[in-house]
Amino acid sequence: MKIATILGTRPEIIKMAPIIDEISKRGIDQIVLHTGQHYDEEMSDNFFRDLEIPAPDYNIHVGSGTHGKQTGLMMKGIEEVLLDEKPDIVLVQGDTNAVLAGALVASKLHIAVGHVESGLRSFDMTMPEEINRRAADVTSSMYFIPTEQSAINLLAEGFSRKNLFITGNTVVDACFRHLEIAKKRGFEEESLAELDIENMENILTLTMHRAENVDDKQRVTNIIEALKELSDMNIIFPIHPRTKNTLQNFGLFDELNNLNHVHIIKPLGYLDFLQLTSASTLILTDSGGLQEEAITLNVPALTLRYNTERPETVTAGGNILVGSDTDVILENANKILNDSEFAEKMKKAPNPYGQGDSAKLTVDAIEDYYKRGLLDIKAPEDIMDSFTRKMANVDEDITVLDFEKKENALIHMVFDGEKMRYPADDLNLNGMMVTYDARE
Ligand code: UD1
Ligand code: UDP
Repeated sequence: MKIATILGTRPEIIKMAPIIDEISKRGIDQIVLHTGQHYDEEMSDNFFRDLEIPAPDYNIHVGSGTHGKQTGLMMKGIEEVLLDEKPDIVLVQGDTNAVLAGALVASKLHIAVGHVESGLRSFDMTMPEEINRRAADVTSSMYFIPTEQSAINLLAEGFSRKNLFITGNTVVDACFRHLEIAKKRGFEEESLAELDIENMENILTLTMHRAENVDDKQRVTNIIEALKELSDMNIIFPIHPRTKNTLQNFGLFDELNNLNHVHIIKPLGYLDFLQLTSASTLILTDSGGLQEEAITLNVPALTLRYNTERPETVTAGGNILVGSDTDVILENANKILNDSEFAEKMKKAPNPYGQGDSAKLTVDAIEDYYKRGLLDIKAPEDIMDSFTRKMANVDEDITVLDFEKKENALIHMVFDGEKMRYPADDLNLNGMMVTYDARE
Protein backbone atom coordinates (compact mmCIF):
# COMPACT_ATOMS: atom_id res chain seq x y z
CA MET A 1 0.00 0.00 0.00
CA LYS A 2 1.16 3.51 -0.74
CA ILE A 3 -0.25 6.53 1.09
CA ALA A 4 0.19 10.10 -0.22
CA THR A 5 -0.24 13.00 2.20
CA ILE A 6 -0.91 16.46 0.84
CA LEU A 7 -0.28 19.45 3.08
CA GLY A 8 0.55 23.10 2.61
CA THR A 9 0.16 25.22 5.73
CA ARG A 10 1.39 25.33 9.33
CA PRO A 11 -1.63 23.61 10.93
CA GLU A 12 -1.66 20.84 8.33
CA ILE A 13 1.98 20.02 9.05
CA ILE A 14 1.27 19.91 12.80
CA LYS A 15 -1.87 17.80 12.51
CA MET A 16 -0.55 15.40 9.85
CA ALA A 17 2.78 14.83 11.64
CA PRO A 18 1.38 12.15 14.00
CA ILE A 19 -0.14 10.30 11.02
CA ILE A 20 3.04 10.56 8.91
CA ASP A 21 4.93 9.20 11.88
CA GLU A 22 2.47 6.33 12.42
CA ILE A 23 2.59 5.35 8.72
CA SER A 24 6.36 5.32 8.81
CA LYS A 25 6.49 3.27 12.04
CA ARG A 26 4.33 0.61 10.37
CA GLY A 27 6.68 0.46 7.38
CA ILE A 28 3.97 1.51 4.92
CA ASP A 29 5.16 3.17 1.72
CA GLN A 30 4.37 6.89 1.79
CA ILE A 31 5.01 10.17 0.03
CA VAL A 32 4.42 13.67 1.39
CA LEU A 33 3.58 16.47 -0.99
CA HIS A 34 3.86 20.09 0.18
CA THR A 35 1.91 22.58 -1.90
CA GLY A 36 4.17 25.44 -0.78
CA GLN A 37 1.23 27.62 0.32
CA HIS A 38 3.21 28.45 3.45
CA TYR A 39 6.88 28.94 2.62
CA ASP A 40 8.53 31.15 5.27
CA GLU A 41 10.88 29.15 7.44
CA GLU A 42 8.84 29.98 10.53
CA MET A 43 5.56 28.94 8.83
CA SER A 44 6.81 25.65 7.38
CA ASP A 45 10.37 24.22 7.72
CA ASN A 46 10.53 24.80 11.48
CA PHE A 47 7.55 22.49 11.96
CA PHE A 48 9.17 19.58 10.10
CA ARG A 49 12.13 20.09 12.43
CA ASP A 50 10.16 20.47 15.69
CA LEU A 51 7.79 17.59 14.92
CA GLU A 52 10.66 15.39 13.76
CA ILE A 53 9.22 14.37 10.42
CA PRO A 54 11.25 14.12 7.20
CA ALA A 55 11.23 16.95 4.67
CA PRO A 56 8.48 16.51 2.06
CA ASP A 57 9.22 14.38 -1.00
CA TYR A 58 7.71 17.02 -3.27
CA ASN A 59 7.14 20.75 -2.96
CA ILE A 60 5.20 22.40 -5.74
CA HIS A 61 5.93 25.93 -4.50
CA VAL A 62 2.56 27.54 -5.29
CA GLY A 63 3.29 30.49 -2.96
CA SER A 64 0.73 33.19 -2.20
CA GLY A 65 -2.01 34.45 -4.50
CA THR A 66 -5.73 34.66 -5.10
CA HIS A 67 -7.79 31.58 -4.29
CA GLY A 68 -8.32 30.68 -7.95
CA LYS A 69 -4.67 31.03 -8.90
CA GLN A 70 -3.37 29.28 -5.83
CA THR A 71 -5.85 26.38 -6.04
CA GLY A 72 -5.35 26.04 -9.82
CA LEU A 73 -1.57 25.81 -9.48
CA MET A 74 -1.96 23.28 -6.70
CA MET A 75 -4.27 21.11 -8.82
CA LYS A 76 -1.83 21.09 -11.71
CA GLY A 77 1.15 20.19 -9.51
CA ILE A 78 -0.71 17.60 -7.45
CA GLU A 79 -2.05 15.87 -10.57
CA GLU A 80 1.45 15.45 -12.02
CA VAL A 81 2.73 13.87 -8.81
CA LEU A 82 -0.25 11.56 -8.34
CA LEU A 83 -0.11 10.34 -11.94
CA ASP A 84 3.51 9.46 -11.37
CA GLU A 85 3.26 8.00 -7.85
CA LYS A 86 -0.12 6.22 -8.15
CA PRO A 87 -0.89 6.02 -4.41
CA ASP A 88 -3.72 3.86 -3.06
CA ILE A 89 -5.09 6.71 -0.97
CA VAL A 90 -4.52 10.45 -0.70
CA LEU A 91 -4.84 12.07 2.71
CA VAL A 92 -5.85 15.72 3.08
CA GLN A 93 -6.34 17.54 6.38
CA GLY A 94 -8.76 20.22 7.49
CA ASP A 95 -10.02 23.04 5.34
CA THR A 96 -7.26 24.87 3.47
CA ASN A 97 -6.92 25.27 -0.29
CA ALA A 98 -4.68 22.17 -0.33
CA VAL A 99 -7.65 20.13 0.87
CA LEU A 100 -9.85 21.40 -1.94
CA ALA A 101 -7.17 20.91 -4.61
CA GLY A 102 -6.00 17.53 -3.30
CA ALA A 103 -9.47 16.07 -2.90
CA LEU A 104 -10.67 17.22 -6.33
CA VAL A 105 -7.61 16.01 -8.21
CA ALA A 106 -7.33 12.65 -6.46
CA SER A 107 -11.01 11.80 -6.73
CA LYS A 108 -11.03 12.61 -10.46
CA LEU A 109 -8.08 10.25 -10.89
CA HIS A 110 -10.22 7.64 -9.09
CA ILE A 111 -7.86 7.56 -6.14
CA ALA A 112 -9.51 7.20 -2.73
CA VAL A 113 -9.42 10.37 -0.61
CA GLY A 114 -9.19 10.25 3.18
CA HIS A 115 -10.29 13.51 4.77
CA VAL A 116 -8.63 14.00 8.14
CA GLU A 117 -10.60 16.34 10.45
CA SER A 118 -13.71 15.88 8.41
CA GLY A 119 -17.31 16.88 9.19
CA LEU A 120 -16.62 20.28 10.79
CA ARG A 121 -19.16 22.93 9.83
CA SER A 122 -19.33 26.63 10.67
CA PHE A 123 -22.39 27.04 8.40
CA ASP A 124 -20.75 30.29 7.29
CA MET A 125 -20.35 30.19 3.51
CA THR A 126 -18.38 33.46 3.49
CA MET A 127 -15.42 31.52 4.90
CA PRO A 128 -13.15 29.98 2.24
CA GLU A 129 -12.51 27.18 4.74
CA GLU A 130 -16.21 26.22 4.86
CA ILE A 131 -16.26 25.86 1.07
CA ASN A 132 -13.05 23.82 1.11
CA ARG A 133 -14.14 21.40 3.81
CA ARG A 134 -17.59 20.83 2.30
CA ALA A 135 -16.16 20.24 -1.19
CA ALA A 136 -13.54 17.84 0.18
CA ASP A 137 -16.19 15.87 2.04
CA VAL A 138 -18.24 15.41 -1.14
CA THR A 139 -15.31 13.77 -2.92
CA SER A 140 -13.89 11.67 -0.06
CA SER A 141 -14.04 7.91 0.50
CA MET A 142 -12.92 7.78 4.14
CA TYR A 143 -13.84 10.35 6.79
CA PHE A 144 -11.69 10.75 9.90
CA ILE A 145 -13.87 12.74 12.25
CA PRO A 146 -12.89 14.33 15.57
CA THR A 147 -16.23 14.07 17.40
CA GLU A 148 -19.72 12.56 17.23
CA GLN A 149 -21.11 16.05 16.68
CA SER A 150 -19.08 16.46 13.48
CA ALA A 151 -20.12 12.97 12.37
CA ILE A 152 -23.76 13.99 12.83
CA ASN A 153 -23.13 16.93 10.45
CA LEU A 154 -22.12 14.44 7.78
CA LEU A 155 -25.07 12.12 8.45
CA ALA A 156 -27.44 15.08 8.21
CA GLU A 157 -25.97 15.87 4.78
CA GLY A 158 -26.71 12.32 3.63
CA PHE A 159 -23.30 10.67 3.95
CA SER A 160 -23.31 6.98 4.73
CA ARG A 161 -22.17 6.00 8.20
CA LYS A 162 -20.16 3.12 6.84
CA ASN A 163 -17.20 5.29 5.84
CA LEU A 164 -17.18 7.50 8.95
CA PHE A 165 -14.49 6.96 11.59
CA ILE A 166 -14.59 8.89 14.84
CA THR A 167 -10.92 9.19 15.69
CA GLY A 168 -10.56 12.31 17.83
CA ASN A 169 -8.21 15.00 16.53
CA THR A 170 -4.52 14.42 15.81
CA VAL A 171 -3.83 17.80 17.42
CA VAL A 172 -4.17 16.00 20.78
CA ASP A 173 -1.57 13.43 19.70
CA ALA A 174 0.80 16.25 18.70
CA CYS A 175 0.16 18.25 21.88
CA PHE A 176 0.63 15.34 24.30
CA ARG A 177 3.71 14.04 22.55
CA HIS A 178 5.52 17.35 22.13
CA LEU A 179 4.68 19.25 25.31
CA GLU A 180 6.99 17.06 27.40
CA ILE A 181 9.76 17.33 24.82
CA ALA A 182 9.24 21.10 24.69
CA LYS A 183 9.38 21.52 28.47
CA LYS A 184 12.60 19.50 28.69
CA ARG A 185 14.18 21.55 25.93
CA GLY A 186 12.99 24.98 27.12
CA PHE A 187 12.55 27.99 24.86
CA GLU A 188 14.85 28.53 21.93
CA GLU A 189 17.21 31.43 22.61
CA GLU A 190 16.15 33.19 19.45
CA SER A 191 12.42 33.21 20.14
CA LEU A 192 12.88 34.68 23.59
CA ALA A 193 14.55 37.77 22.06
CA GLU A 194 14.42 40.30 24.88
CA LEU A 195 11.36 38.63 26.47
CA ASP A 196 11.84 36.50 29.55
CA ILE A 197 8.72 34.42 28.89
CA GLU A 198 9.88 31.66 31.24
CA ASN A 199 9.64 34.01 34.23
CA MET A 200 6.66 36.01 33.07
CA GLU A 201 3.26 35.99 34.78
CA ASN A 202 -0.21 36.97 33.53
CA ILE A 203 0.47 35.78 30.00
CA LEU A 204 -2.21 36.24 27.41
CA THR A 205 -1.37 34.50 24.13
CA LEU A 206 -2.90 36.20 21.14
CA THR A 207 -3.07 34.89 17.58
CA MET A 208 -5.18 36.08 14.70
CA HIS A 209 -5.02 35.55 10.97
CA ARG A 210 -8.59 34.82 9.87
CA ALA A 211 -9.34 36.81 6.70
CA GLU A 212 -12.68 38.08 8.03
CA ASN A 213 -10.87 39.66 11.02
CA VAL A 214 -7.48 40.85 9.87
CA ASP A 215 -8.52 42.05 6.41
CA ASP A 216 -11.27 44.20 7.95
CA LYS A 217 -9.98 47.48 9.39
CA GLN A 218 -12.97 48.05 11.67
CA ARG A 219 -12.78 44.60 13.23
CA VAL A 220 -9.03 44.82 13.84
CA THR A 221 -9.46 48.28 15.33
CA ASN A 222 -12.13 46.99 17.71
CA ILE A 223 -9.89 44.12 18.79
CA ILE A 224 -6.95 46.50 19.34
CA GLU A 225 -9.18 48.74 21.50
CA ALA A 226 -9.81 45.74 23.77
CA LEU A 227 -6.09 44.87 23.88
CA LYS A 228 -5.26 48.41 25.02
CA GLU A 229 -7.51 47.97 28.05
CA LEU A 230 -5.95 44.65 29.09
CA SER A 231 -2.86 46.41 30.39
CA ASP A 232 -2.42 44.12 33.44
CA MET A 233 -1.60 41.28 31.09
CA ASN A 234 1.56 40.45 29.17
CA ILE A 235 0.08 40.01 25.73
CA ILE A 236 2.36 37.84 23.59
CA PHE A 237 1.43 38.03 19.95
CA PRO A 238 3.36 35.75 17.56
CA ILE A 239 2.16 37.43 14.43
CA HIS A 240 1.03 35.58 11.30
CA PRO A 241 2.56 37.10 8.12
CA ARG A 242 -0.89 37.88 6.73
CA THR A 243 -1.72 39.87 9.86
CA LYS A 244 1.60 41.72 9.86
CA ASN A 245 0.93 42.80 6.27
CA THR A 246 -2.61 44.00 6.88
CA LEU A 247 -1.79 45.78 10.16
CA GLN A 248 1.01 47.61 8.36
CA ASN A 249 -1.27 48.48 5.43
CA PHE A 250 -3.95 49.81 7.80
CA GLY A 251 -1.29 51.86 9.66
CA LEU A 252 -2.12 50.00 12.90
CA PHE A 253 1.06 47.98 13.43
CA ASP A 254 3.11 50.67 15.21
CA GLU A 255 0.20 51.73 17.43
CA LEU A 256 -0.14 48.15 18.68
CA ASN A 257 3.58 47.47 18.86
CA ASN A 258 4.17 50.61 20.92
CA LEU A 259 1.92 49.42 23.76
CA ASN A 260 4.17 48.41 26.67
CA HIS A 261 2.15 45.34 27.55
CA VAL A 262 1.88 44.01 23.97
CA HIS A 263 4.83 42.02 22.63
CA ILE A 264 4.62 41.33 18.94
CA ILE A 265 7.02 38.55 17.98
CA LYS A 266 7.55 36.44 14.87
CA PRO A 267 5.63 33.15 14.57
CA LEU A 268 7.01 30.60 17.02
CA GLY A 269 8.06 27.03 16.32
CA TYR A 270 5.75 24.36 17.70
CA LEU A 271 7.81 23.52 20.78
CA ASP A 272 8.09 27.16 21.83
CA PHE A 273 4.46 27.83 21.09
CA LEU A 274 3.28 24.87 23.19
CA GLN A 275 5.30 26.16 26.13
CA LEU A 276 3.86 29.63 25.67
CA THR A 277 0.23 28.51 25.45
CA SER A 278 0.48 26.05 28.32
CA ALA A 279 1.90 28.83 30.53
CA SER A 280 -0.89 31.25 29.57
CA THR A 281 -3.70 32.48 31.78
CA LEU A 282 -5.85 33.15 28.75
CA ILE A 283 -5.79 32.55 24.99
CA LEU A 284 -7.35 35.07 22.63
CA THR A 285 -7.52 33.72 19.10
CA ASP A 286 -9.34 33.26 15.84
CA SER A 287 -7.36 30.10 15.03
CA GLY A 288 -9.09 26.77 14.58
CA GLY A 289 -6.25 24.66 15.94
CA LEU A 290 -5.73 26.87 18.93
CA GLN A 291 -9.34 26.47 20.07
CA GLU A 292 -8.64 22.73 20.18
CA GLU A 293 -5.24 23.09 21.84
CA ALA A 294 -6.59 25.44 24.51
CA ILE A 295 -9.10 22.86 25.75
CA THR A 296 -6.45 20.13 25.50
CA LEU A 297 -4.02 22.17 27.62
CA ASN A 298 -6.73 23.36 30.08
CA VAL A 299 -6.34 27.04 29.24
CA PRO A 300 -9.49 29.22 28.92
CA ALA A 301 -10.01 30.50 25.38
CA LEU A 302 -11.86 33.48 23.97
CA THR A 303 -12.45 33.10 20.26
CA LEU A 304 -12.47 36.24 18.14
CA ARG A 305 -15.25 34.93 15.89
CA TYR A 306 -19.02 34.98 15.71
CA ASN A 307 -19.28 31.28 14.83
CA THR A 308 -17.12 28.22 15.15
CA GLU A 309 -16.86 24.84 13.49
CA ARG A 310 -15.60 23.66 16.87
CA PRO A 311 -18.83 24.14 18.91
CA GLU A 312 -17.87 21.24 21.19
CA THR A 313 -15.30 23.50 22.86
CA VAL A 314 -18.04 26.02 23.66
CA THR A 315 -20.60 23.50 24.95
CA ALA A 316 -17.88 21.80 27.01
CA GLY A 317 -17.30 25.19 28.66
CA GLY A 318 -13.68 25.86 27.66
CA ASN A 319 -14.22 28.42 24.93
CA ILE A 320 -16.37 31.54 24.54
CA LEU A 321 -17.17 33.24 21.22
CA VAL A 322 -16.55 36.97 21.60
CA GLY A 323 -16.45 38.09 17.95
CA SER A 324 -14.57 41.33 17.39
CA ASP A 325 -16.72 43.38 19.76
CA THR A 326 -14.52 45.42 22.15
CA ASP A 327 -16.96 45.30 25.07
CA VAL A 328 -17.72 41.60 24.75
CA ILE A 329 -14.00 40.74 24.59
CA LEU A 330 -13.30 42.84 27.68
CA GLU A 331 -16.27 41.64 29.67
CA ASN A 332 -15.31 37.98 29.18
CA ALA A 333 -11.57 38.50 29.58
CA ASN A 334 -12.10 40.37 32.85
CA LYS A 335 -14.43 37.67 34.11
CA ILE A 336 -11.79 35.00 33.49
CA LEU A 337 -9.03 37.15 35.03
CA ASN A 338 -10.96 38.26 38.12
CA ASP A 339 -13.36 35.42 38.89
CA SER A 340 -11.19 32.43 39.81
CA GLU A 341 -14.16 30.08 40.14
CA PHE A 342 -15.27 30.93 36.61
CA ALA A 343 -11.72 30.51 35.27
CA GLU A 344 -11.33 27.16 37.07
CA LYS A 345 -14.55 25.91 35.51
CA MET A 346 -13.30 26.82 32.05
CA LYS A 347 -9.97 25.11 32.70
CA LYS A 348 -11.73 21.92 33.78
CA ALA A 349 -13.85 21.69 30.61
CA PRO A 350 -13.57 18.13 29.29
CA ASN A 351 -11.57 17.74 26.11
CA PRO A 352 -13.87 16.52 23.31
CA TYR A 353 -11.01 15.65 20.93
CA GLY A 354 -9.95 12.24 22.20
CA GLN A 355 -7.10 10.62 24.06
CA GLY A 356 -4.18 11.28 21.72
CA ASP A 357 -4.58 8.05 19.75
CA SER A 358 -6.13 9.63 16.69
CA ALA A 359 -3.24 8.83 14.31
CA LYS A 360 -3.30 5.18 15.35
CA LEU A 361 -7.07 4.89 14.81
CA THR A 362 -6.76 6.61 11.43
CA VAL A 363 -4.01 4.35 10.10
CA ASP A 364 -5.77 1.25 11.55
CA ALA A 365 -8.85 2.14 9.49
CA ILE A 366 -6.82 2.76 6.32
CA GLU A 367 -4.97 -0.55 6.64
CA ASP A 368 -8.26 -2.37 7.19
CA TYR A 369 -9.87 -0.74 4.11
CA TYR A 370 -6.82 -1.57 2.02
CA LYS A 371 -6.84 -5.22 3.08
CA ARG A 372 -10.55 -5.51 2.29
CA GLY A 373 -10.12 -3.90 -1.16
CA LEU A 374 -12.31 -0.98 -0.15
CA LEU A 375 -9.85 1.69 -1.35
CA ASP A 376 -10.51 0.71 -4.95
CA ILE A 377 -12.96 3.13 -6.50
CA LYS A 378 -15.42 0.79 -8.19
CA ALA A 379 -17.19 1.22 -11.50
CA PRO A 380 -20.96 1.84 -11.13
CA GLU A 381 -22.05 -1.69 -11.98
CA ASP A 382 -20.06 -2.97 -9.00
CA ILE A 383 -21.40 -0.57 -6.44
CA MET A 384 -25.10 -0.63 -7.25
CA ASP A 385 -26.80 -1.88 -4.13
CA SER A 386 -30.54 -2.07 -4.03
CA PHE A 387 -32.04 -0.74 -0.80
CA THR A 388 -35.15 0.97 0.52
CA ARG A 389 -35.01 3.97 2.86
CA LYS A 390 -37.17 3.34 5.90
CA MET A 391 -38.06 4.83 9.25
CA ALA A 392 -38.98 3.14 12.54
CA ASN A 393 -39.85 3.95 16.13
CA VAL A 394 -37.94 1.47 18.27
CA ASP A 395 -39.71 0.17 21.40
CA GLU A 396 -37.40 -2.59 22.55
CA ASP A 397 -33.91 -2.82 24.02
CA ILE A 398 -31.76 -3.27 20.96
CA THR A 399 -28.36 -1.90 20.01
CA VAL A 400 -27.55 -0.29 16.68
CA LEU A 401 -25.51 -3.32 15.64
CA ASP A 402 -28.26 -5.82 16.51
CA PHE A 403 -30.92 -3.69 14.81
CA GLU A 404 -28.80 -3.63 11.65
CA LYS A 405 -28.32 -7.40 11.72
CA LYS A 406 -32.01 -8.02 12.29
CA GLU A 407 -33.17 -5.72 9.46
CA ASN A 408 -30.20 -6.35 7.10
CA ALA A 409 -29.85 -2.60 7.13
CA LEU A 410 -27.54 0.31 7.73
CA ILE A 411 -28.85 2.92 10.15
CA HIS A 412 -28.57 6.44 8.86
CA MET A 413 -29.95 8.79 11.51
CA VAL A 414 -31.14 8.40 15.10
CA PHE A 415 -33.44 10.84 16.88
CA ASP A 416 -33.71 10.77 20.66
CA GLY A 417 -36.70 13.09 21.18
CA GLU A 418 -35.63 16.34 19.53
CA LYS A 419 -31.95 15.49 19.64
CA MET A 420 -30.02 13.79 16.87
CA ARG A 421 -27.68 11.09 18.15
CA TYR A 422 -24.74 9.37 16.53
CA PRO A 423 -25.54 5.70 15.86
CA ALA A 424 -22.58 4.24 17.74
CA ASP A 425 -22.61 0.42 17.44
CA ASP A 426 -23.58 -0.17 21.08
CA LEU A 427 -26.21 2.60 21.42
CA ASN A 428 -29.47 1.22 22.87
CA LEU A 429 -32.20 2.44 20.50
CA ASN A 430 -35.14 1.87 22.85
CA GLY A 431 -37.51 4.89 22.67
CA MET A 432 -35.72 6.42 19.67
CA MET A 433 -36.64 6.98 16.07
CA VAL A 434 -34.33 5.72 13.35
CA THR A 435 -34.01 6.11 9.62
CA TYR A 436 -32.22 3.28 7.82
CA ASP A 437 -31.37 1.77 4.48
CA ALA A 438 -32.72 -1.79 4.28
CA ARG A 439 -31.10 -4.00 1.64
CA GLU A 440 -33.49 -5.90 -0.59
C1 UD1 B 1 -4.23 29.73 5.31
C2 UD1 B 1 -5.54 28.95 5.18
C3 UD1 B 1 -6.31 29.04 6.49
C4 UD1 B 1 -5.43 28.55 7.63
C5 UD1 B 1 -4.11 29.30 7.66
C6 UD1 B 1 -3.21 28.74 8.70
C7 UD1 B 1 -6.71 28.88 3.01
C8 UD1 B 1 -7.80 29.45 2.23
N1 UD1 B 1 -6.39 29.53 4.15
O1 UD1 B 1 -4.54 31.09 5.55
O2 UD1 B 1 -7.46 28.21 6.41
O3 UD1 B 1 -6.14 28.76 8.83
O4 UD1 B 1 -3.47 29.19 6.37
O5 UD1 B 1 -2.21 29.63 9.08
O6 UD1 B 1 -6.14 27.89 2.63
N2 UD1 B 1 2.38 34.71 3.79
C9 UD1 B 1 3.73 34.91 3.98
N3 UD1 B 1 4.50 33.80 4.18
C10 UD1 B 1 4.04 32.54 4.19
C11 UD1 B 1 2.66 32.34 3.98
C12 UD1 B 1 1.86 33.45 3.79
O7 UD1 B 1 4.21 36.02 3.98
O8 UD1 B 1 4.81 31.58 4.37
C13 UD1 B 1 1.51 35.91 3.63
C14 UD1 B 1 1.30 36.31 2.18
O9 UD1 B 1 1.27 37.70 2.12
C15 UD1 B 1 -0.06 35.75 1.87
C16 UD1 B 1 -0.79 35.86 3.21
O10 UD1 B 1 0.23 35.62 4.19
O11 UD1 B 1 -0.72 36.47 0.87
C17 UD1 B 1 -1.89 34.86 3.38
O12 UD1 B 1 -1.43 33.53 3.17
P1 UD1 B 1 -2.42 32.38 2.64
O13 UD1 B 1 -1.67 31.10 2.60
O14 UD1 B 1 -3.11 32.80 1.40
O15 UD1 B 1 -3.54 32.33 3.72
P2 UD1 B 1 -3.48 32.22 5.31
O16 UD1 B 1 -4.06 33.46 5.85
O17 UD1 B 1 -2.12 31.82 5.73
N1 UDP C 1 1.22 27.77 16.13
C1 UDP C 1 2.61 27.74 16.29
N2 UDP C 1 3.28 28.91 16.38
C2 UDP C 1 2.64 30.12 16.36
C3 UDP C 1 1.24 30.14 16.20
C4 UDP C 1 0.55 28.95 16.08
O1 UDP C 1 3.19 26.66 16.36
O2 UDP C 1 3.32 31.15 16.45
C5 UDP C 1 0.50 26.50 15.95
C6 UDP C 1 -0.57 26.21 16.99
O3 UDP C 1 -0.02 25.48 18.04
C7 UDP C 1 -1.61 25.42 16.21
C8 UDP C 1 -1.43 25.86 14.78
O4 UDP C 1 -0.21 26.58 14.73
O5 UDP C 1 -1.36 24.03 16.27
C9 UDP C 1 -2.57 26.73 14.36
O6 UDP C 1 -2.30 27.28 13.12
P1 UDP C 1 -3.08 28.53 12.56
O7 UDP C 1 -3.67 29.31 13.67
O8 UDP C 1 -2.14 29.21 11.64
O9 UDP C 1 -4.19 27.85 11.64
P2 UDP C 1 -5.67 27.29 11.92
O10 UDP C 1 -5.59 26.27 12.97
O11 UDP C 1 -6.54 28.44 12.26
O12 UDP C 1 -6.05 26.73 10.59
